[in-house]
Amino acid sequence: MKAIALKSDIYWVGAIDWAVRDFHGYATPRGTTYNNYLIIDDAITLIDTVKYDFSDITVKNIRSVVDPSKIRNVVINHIENDHATSLDKIMELAPGATIYITEKGRKGLERFFDISKWNMKVVKTGDTVSIGKRTLLFLETPMVHWPDSMMTYIKEEKILMSQDGFGQHIASAVRFDDEFVSCESMAELEDAVVDYYANILMPFGPLIKAKIADIDKLGLEVEMIAPDHGIIWRANPRKVLQMYLDMSSGRANLSVPIIYDTMWHSTEKMSLPIMQGIKDEGVECKVIKLRATPMSVAIKEFWKARGCLVGTPTLNNIMYPTVAEFLTHLRGLRPKNRIMGAFGSYGWGGGAVKEAYEEFKRMGLETFDPGLQILYRPSLEDEVKCYDFGREFARKVREYDAKF
Ligand code: FEO
Repeated sequence: MKAIALKSDIYWVGAIDWAVRDFHGYATPRGTTYNNYLIIDDAITLIDTVKYDFSDITVKNIRSVVDPSKIRNVVINHIENDHATSLDKIMELAPGATIYITEKGRKGLERFFDISKWNMKVVKTGDTVSIGKRTLLFLETPMVHWPDSMMTYIKEEKILMSQDGFGQHIASAVRFDDEFVSCESMAELEDAVVDYYANILMPFGPLIKAKIADIDKLGLEVEMIAPDHGIIWRANPRKVLQMYLDMSSGRANLSVPIIYDTMWHSTEKMSLPIMQGIKDEGVECKVIKLRATPMSVAIKEFWKARGCLVGTPTLNNIMYPTVAEFLTHLRGLRPKNRIMGAFGSYGWGGGAVKEAYEEFKRMGLETFDPGLQILYRPSLEDEVKCYDFGREFARKVREYDAKF
């Protein structure tokens, strides 16, 4: 690869990780990129670094434009390992550079590096620095994605360098949205945005909404959004801003995924008439077996839909372990504005469906009570009960959806 110009004298100098399929436990079937950016101005400025394993690549890309020793400023928008672990390599090459970072970023960075030998300048929202023809404006975005996070806006160019925000895990030979849409599709790009938001940013919806409002309050016109992962939004940055506004405002599809696991196929057998019932009410439905699906895909499918049914057999009086894992994962993401129900087969004491509802209530989600349990194996009569359960759940989802 080589440096790629976003605008005159502003370059992408990042790395493409074509092979990563497990990003700290999150499935990345499309791979990802670690984007960082170089601005050639009176004070040459690097915005973010990359994951340590890709240090040599970013250094090579920087060298294709300028000798790295000439870098005067390094902006660290986010200290997570995938963006900041090459910082020591960069600072070895540009020891006189000043690092611009938030206070929480500085404190966090101390846990990774000996920062005593580096010039550090702590910045907060509204602070600016002139680098010559251009001015950088900083906007703190705590919890989007970590407490340290911030974004950097280049005033004269109207470019927002948004670190994790507005990113997607996509490895591609092209860098920009218009190019990606030409060689792949907008649907593929949108799916990657939703996947990323659901798995990484779901807990922070209200903060995201507030930060987008801040961008407007500060009167920042955004002509390009350059995140630290995936495709850069130059043709249609409003598209991703609107998607984030919709998702952070609780928008969801009138649809229901059935997310289940099964021991001897009984819970699985229940899922099919339930699906038919949902479909016959005119609500879209997908059936997702947890042991056959990456967790992050199940989370994405949950997030897209207004309602979700969880299927779990009872094992030793509790939920099946993969279902418990899914719900634990989901609870950490603090979902809102969704209605839940549960079903499953049991052999004697039961307990899994009850436990699933306890978990839904802990999450503060709306529920469709009391769920459906079937002894051992669904009979033909039980299949009718399953079908009716699906229809009734779909009606409830429709009713609930009308509130939004
Ligand atoms: Fe891509 Fe929060 O790191």
